[in-house]
Amino acid sequence: MADSPYPELKKSHVPERVGRPWTDYKPPPSAPVWAVIGGFGSFHVLVAALELGVFDVLANRGANPGTSPAATAAELADELEVSAPHLEALLDSLAVLGLLERVGGRYGLNDAAARYLTTDGAASMASLVPVAPGPLENWSRLADTIRAGRPADPIDDNPADFYRALVEGTFTTVLRAATRADLQVRYSAMDSPRVLDLGAGGAPWAIAVLKACPGGTAVVNDLAGIIDVARRTTAEHGVADRCEFRSGDFHGIHIEPEGYDVVVLGHVCRTEGPDGTRRLIERAWEALRPEGRLLLADYFVAPEPQWSPHSVLMGMTMMAGTVNGFGITAAQTAAWLQDAGFEALRLIEPIGHQHAFLACKPRPSGGTK
Ligand SMILES: C[S@@+](CC[C@H](N)C(=O)[O-])C[C@H]1O[C@@H](n2cnc3c(N)ncnc32)[C@H](O)[C@@H]1O
Repeated sequence: MADSPYPELKKSHVPERVGRPWTDYKPPPSAPVWAVIGGFGSFHVLVAALELGVFDVLANRGANPGTSPAATAAELADELEVSAPHLEALLDSLAVLGLLERVGGRYGLNDAAARYLTTDGAASMASLVPVAPGPLENWSRLADTIRAGRPADPIDDNPADFYRALVEGTFTTVLRAATRADLQVRYSAMDSPRVLDLGAGGAPWAIAVLKACPGGTAVVNDLAGIIDVARRTTAEHGVADRCEFRSGDFHGIHIEPEGYDVVVLGHVCRTEGPDGTRRLIERAWEALRPEGRLLLADYFVAPEPQWSPHSVLMGMTMMAGTVNGFGITAAQTAAWLQDAGFEALRLIEPIGHQHAFLACKPRPSGGTK
């Protein structure tokens, strides 16, 4: 039955129309659809605020004892040298998105903004936000990607352009996860571990292990156009002298058999597809000494995808932008690890939303300690 064009005159479901038995049917709310439509604008509101420096200006005011930490739109527009009414619209949008406080016409940082959106925030995501969805043009051609089975302009064709910005943006978060993972992995109990970090980006995993283990050393791998990021970050964290930088495709570089105590596959598998991931797990197996451990970090899809929305949408982001990228399920990953021979699998969550499988290469049967 056609729905009434005038919601206030929705009479189609009343007993006069449908007779008895009468059911109190009401159309479902359109809120989920509006939430999606708003998602596009919300993303750009946040990107614009970061680009204009809204959060940093408010943080500076907070740090300066002479000024109030909260400001009116006119005061902020003055400091940022932008149009006051336009900025006010942006600030109100940030407030309704829960990314700023607005009290009595003054705007200030809330806890989330101070922690995640200021450049110097304890867990800053300021440089991650603009690059996290991947190249934006790929999203506007998503239906074509689904028709063709691959994106028209995949990241794989020019990885350095995209990954340099991405790994700069994800570094802080992954370093926090990798550092906190010590509570479960106990790197710090290892004497002088040798680490292999494949597709290391800014090498947050290698840095976390080396900082926990003063005698540790690492081979840090990434593509030639990206490995410089790791050279810089390892230097900044004082561990570069214990790293060997081995650039090149992780499927092809030389890896010493049974040369490592820890191998890291940090957020590399979801762009690899099943074949690539299996090959990487096999490379990790060959690289590990008996009793060595593999850390495989990713956003794993739960047995029912609805239970893991973040991972499902992250998988979609991979599919929108790469040739082989898809969501990677925890069950599939566990099966691949077990097929390769790994034992004692554990799925850890060192910080919220950051998961990693920890898997051990057993001693050959009959071997002794
Ligand atoms: C999402 S980032 C993960 C960085 C880091 N491992 C982490 O956990 O934060 C993926 C990294 O894999 C690298 N990568 C992608 N394909 C690669 C390949 N074939 N060989 C080596 N590195 C690759 C990218 O350059 C990028 O630095």
